[in-house]
Amino acid sequence: MAITGASGVIYGKRLLEVLREKKVETHVIVSKAAEKVVEHELKLTKKDLEKFATYAYDTDDLNAPFMSGSFKIDGMVIVPCTMKTLAGIACGYADNLILRAADVTIKERRKLVIVPREAPLSMIHLRNMLTVAELGVSVVPAMPAYYHKPMRIDDLVDFVVGKVLDCLSIEHTLYRRWHGASGE
Ligand SMILES: Cc1cc2nc3c(=O)[nH]c(=O)nc-3n(C[C@H](O)[C@H](O)[C@H](O)COP(=O)(O)O)c2cc1C
Repeated sequence: MAITGASGVIYGKRLLEVLREKKVETHVIVSKAAEKVVEHELKLTKKDLEKFATYAYDTDDLNAPFMSGSFKIDGMVIVPCTMKTLAGIACGYADNLILRAADVTIKERRKLVIVPREAPLSMIHLRNMLTVAELGVSVVPAMPAYYHKPMRIDDLVDFVVGKVLDCLSIEHTLYRRWHGASGE
């Protein structure tokens, strides 16, 4: 899992919490830019955030096991995903550990989920999203729905995190599923 320097680092924190509750082994990489956003938006340090993960790595750590496709993982999530990291993935420019891990995940045809966050989106952003979607990446924008009647910010966060878990086929009850208007 990677947390990059887009707004919405709370989604990354929540996913780490849920995966820990579910006893899923996690390897996390927090980008340098994310470190700043985590301090600003969550009032937490990178170290605080890393405590939720089983293993943590720096973006310039080229000794991490998943630098190689021979290290087996079930999938990778980048949440939130900046337009910079998205661009790196789209053109295979693997100049840090996050981009290399994403590159390996794609080449090994494993599950990669990204949660891009930017508004408005330029044609460059949209083209890059199309490029990665064509490669089989699940693009889950940080775009919560309102049909489950959210009351708190946590409900909006849990909706997006629940959608990520759906992509990974991990069972959860983070949001109420739609059963039609009469199924409330
Ligand atoms: C407070 C803050 C919020 C930011 N929000 C976004 C964002 O929502 N989306 C985005 O693409 N970049 C955002 N950026 C810019 C990225 O952090 C910047 O492009 C950085 O180089 C991305 O590096 P990374 O992908 O390695 O984390 C933000 C930066 C700051 C300081």
